[in-house]
Amino acid sequence: MTSQALATFTLHDGGGLPLVLLHGFPLDHRMWTACAAHLPPGTRAIGVDLPGAGHSDLDGYQPSIEHAADWVHRTMVAAGEGNAVVVGHSMGGYVALALAERHPGFVAGLGLVNTKSTADTDEARAKRLRIAAETESSQTVDAVLGMPAALVGATTTERRRHLFPVLDSWIRAQSPASVAWAQRAMAARPDRTAVLERFDAPVAVVVGAEDTITPLAEAEYMVQAAGAPSRLSGGNAALTLVPGVGHMSAVEDPQAVAAALGLLHLQVVAHH
Ligand code: MLT
Repeated sequence: MTSQALATFTLHDGGGLPLVLLHGFPLDHRMWTACAAHLPPGTRAIGVDLPGAGHSDLDGYQPSIEHAADWVHRTMVAAGEGNAVVVGHSMGGYVALALAERHPGFVAGLGLVNTKSTADTDEARAKRLRIAAETESSQTVDAVLGMPAALVGATTTERRRHLFPVLDSWIRAQSPASVAWAQRAMAARPDRTAVLERFDAPVAVVVGAEDTITPLAEAEYMVQAAGAPSRLSGGNAALTLVPGVGHMSAVEDPQAVAAALGLLHLQVVAHH
């Protein structure tokens, strides 16, 4: 175990309340670079490499989304950030929900991008454990190299072919140990829908219209749990459906996702 900080990167300069950007699997903070560049001027964005990913160590932690959330929290507090708008893509969304559960005072707003609040099915869990074992025994990331075809939508497969080598290079840069760790951590996570039901700050849910990994139904379920805005409920969650993109919306259409996150940041600042 370590008290060392996770690696963090300023992806967009500005002052005030930061947007903390948590990446998906099997990637690192670089998946947010293009999106952060489109944030409104003055919005500070900090990308974090989750345990084992990119420039962050694993350091003997048991695979656990909760440990990842605690570690993000410790890293941000050590950097002088008392609270933040926390945005997570897919696996990063699982960590963001764990942060909201375990450190509610830190999370001033939640951005849930191509993710879900539900736990894995038994079948999905078994597949993850198989991939973790395969990755460890081969000491390669070969088991996840085919992922880009499933990560992006049909429109990107047709019209944004240049993103394939980019995703491939990000995946190849990850260590086999971190891939196995993340698979086991995700397999062990519980359903966190109730966290959204309790959360009372603004929530932005973003999903790609062509996402087959965490599809629209999962996004709608989260919005419903958090409370869709209406005159009657006064709910605090908004849904953005991004056309022409799949699971990697922030990479496939960074501008559209940045617009939704910029709005979330504005709402949080107004709500504060
Ligand atoms: C991700 O993009 O982080 C993964 O697809 C999440 C998952 O495997 O559940």
